[in-house]
Amino acid sequence: MKGIILAGGKGTRLYPLTKAVSKQLMPIYDKPMIYYPLATLIEAGIHEILIITTPDDLPLYRRLLGNGSRIGCSFSYKEQPEPNGLAQAFILGEKFINNDPVALILGDNLFYGTHFIEQLKKYATYDGGMIFASKVSDPHRYGIVQFDSNKKAINIEEKPTHPKSSFAVPGIYFYDNTVVKKAKKLKPSKRGELEITDLNRLYMDEDCLHVEVLDHGTAWLDTGTIESLMEASQFVQVIQSRQGILVGAIEAAAYHSEAIGKDKLSDLAEELKGTVYGNFLKSLIL
Ligand code: TTP
Repeated sequence: MKGIILAGGKGTRLYPLTKAVSKQLMPIYDKPMIYYPLATLIEAGIHEILIITTPDDLPLYRRLLGNGSRIGCSFSYKEQPEPNGLAQAFILGEKFINNDPVALILGDNLFYGTHFIEQLKKYATYDGGMIFASKVSDPHRYGIVQFDSNKKAINIEEKPTHPKSSFAVPGIYFYDNTVVKKAKKLKPSKRGELEITDLNRLYMDEDCLHVEVLDHGTAWLDTGTIESLMEASQFVQVIQSRQGILVGAIEAAAYHSEAIGKDKLSDLAEELKGTVYGNFLKSLIL
C-alpha cells in the first residue's frame, strides 16, 4: 500500500502563525507537525509516500524530509496549486498511486496508540474504502457518520449544522485502487472543494465502505486551531516524559517497521548526537 500526506491548505485558523510558514511545519512540542502523521504511516508499514503541499511550501518539505532513503523509505512530492479539497489528493496523486491501494492522512492529524497501528496494518489490503469514527463533542466541525442499530454506517455528512450523530471521521482513510476513478467523478461542493465525504459516500453507495470505531486506547488530535495545537504539544510532552519514549519519531517508526535495521538506526542516532532525540534513537538499539 502507498501513502499520501496532505500538507497544503491555508491554515487561516492559525493566522498569523501560518501566514508565512506552512501549518504542518509548526512545532508540536519538539518536532514539526508533519512528523506525527508521517510516523503513523511508516509505523504501519507504508514506506512509499507522496507529500502534497503548496508550490511555495514544497521546497521546505523537501529540505526537511528529502527523498526518504535516509530512513529506508521513498518520499516524493506534488504541488497542489490551490486548496481544492481533500479528495483532490487522488487526482494529483494518480501517477504515484498507479495500480496500488492507497492510504491518505492529513498533515495536521495526530494519532497515538499501539493498538491503532495494529488496526492500520490490518486494513492495509482492504478491498473497498475504510475509514474510522470517533466520538467528539463538537460534531459540526467534522465529517459525521451515522450508524444503524447493527453498527453499519448509513449516512455521512460534511460539517452538518444539525449533526445526526457525534461520530466524526478522523483524517486517515484507506482506499482500494478505484479511488482515482471515483475522485474524478466528484463535483466541487458549495464551498468549492472536492470533498472526502462525497468520496466516502460513493463507496457507501456501492456498499463497500467499512467504518471502524476508534479504540478507546487511541488518541486522535487535530491541530488546526490554536487551542488544539497547544493541547497536542502538551499531550506529546506528557506522554514522552512519563513513558520515556518519543512520539512521532520517523526514524524509530522506520526501525519498528523494518524499513531500516540496527546499523542504520545507529548511524541516525549518531547524526543527532547530543540531543534528546538522538539519545532516544540510541536507546532503541540497546
Ligand atoms: P483544513 O484544516 O480543513 O484547512 P486548512 O489547513 O487550510 O486550515 P484553515 O481551515 O485554518 O484555513 O485542512 C485539513 C488538512 O488538509 C490540513 O492538513 C491541510 C490539508 N489540506 C490540503 O492539503 N489541501 C486542501 O485542499 C485542503 C482543503 C486541506
